[in-house]
Amino acid sequence: MTATVIDGKAFAAKVRGQVADHVARLKEAHGVTPGLAVVLVGEDPASQVYVRSKGKMTVEVGMKSVEHKLDADTSEADLLAVVKSLNEDPEIHGILVQLPLPGHLNEDLVINSIDPAKDVDGFHISNVGLLGTGQKSMVPCTPLGCLMMLRDHHGSLSGLNAVVIGRSNIVGKPMAQLLLGDSCTVTIAHSRTKDIQDVVRAADVVVAAVGRPEMVTGEWIKPGATVIDVGINRIDAPEKGEGKTRLVGDCHYDSCAEVAGAITPVPGGVGPMTIACLLANTVTACCRANGLAEPEGLTA
Ligand code: GUN
Repeated sequence: MTATVIDGKAFAAKVRGQVADHVARLKEAHGVTPGLAVVLVGEDPASQVYVRSKGKMTVEVGMKSVEHKLDADTSEADLLAVVKSLNEDPEIHGILVQLPLPGHLNEDLVINSIDPAKDVDGFHISNVGLLGTGQKSMVPCTPLGCLMMLRDHHGSLSGLNAVVIGRSNIVGKPMAQLLLGDSCTVTIAHSRTKDIQDVVRAADVVVAAVGRPEMVTGEWIKPGATVIDVGINRIDAPEKGEGKTRLVGDCHYDSCAEVAGAITPVPGGVGPMTIACLLANTVTACCRANGLAEPEGLTA
């Protein structure tokens, strides 16, 4: 079998189109423009790239984009003051504090200082609790993007065996909650899981989010299963020339694609969906803040 390739780039463009349509309607019918604020502390190069990309796409879908760039040695009190001012700003509906933060800052404290209604990352302890109890919440962007792709591919996920590899707060745990919410039988596998290959081989749906390059190979995959690869790992690529690198996922693409029914590539799979879902969450937050109907298909 050769797997169907789930094109995350095209899917993300479609989601951004839906977001842009909804933004246009909000402006026209209600005079409301959704606003997203991104806070970046320090000069981590990867974070700077993400933040630039987020700002560009926010503007492209017609929303207001605000960026706060703070020095790496910003004090916790000063960062908390920035978050407080954004919490109180009626033109801002979504707040994202880019992680990781410099070591002297307490990430949990900072994230939990964001107004949960504006927490478009879904990392605030209130949103984690709401998701865990099946209540309306803000849902973390990467798992939401994975869920959208899975629903699109399968229609219903009810009764499927899903294995999530990785137990992070940002992807693994919320992904498991979302799959449970869609009535999958969910297993979370991780670095200590015994006979992990056998566990994964029982899955109709595999979501790999461990950050280990090409860990999952075709032998781990049940024929016909759907493989969602969240990993983005940069590895040496001497075949491309000295000092060259390439991006790979947590799954060995070629061997998995031979066995799977469907698979997301890296790059061009889950990655583009994360920012699209951030924009979707911002529209959702804006609608909730204004007591307006939420966009359909853009929330969990
Ligand atoms: N750093 C890498 N990915 C993310 C993300 O999704 N949200 C935040 N806040 N920081 C990140």
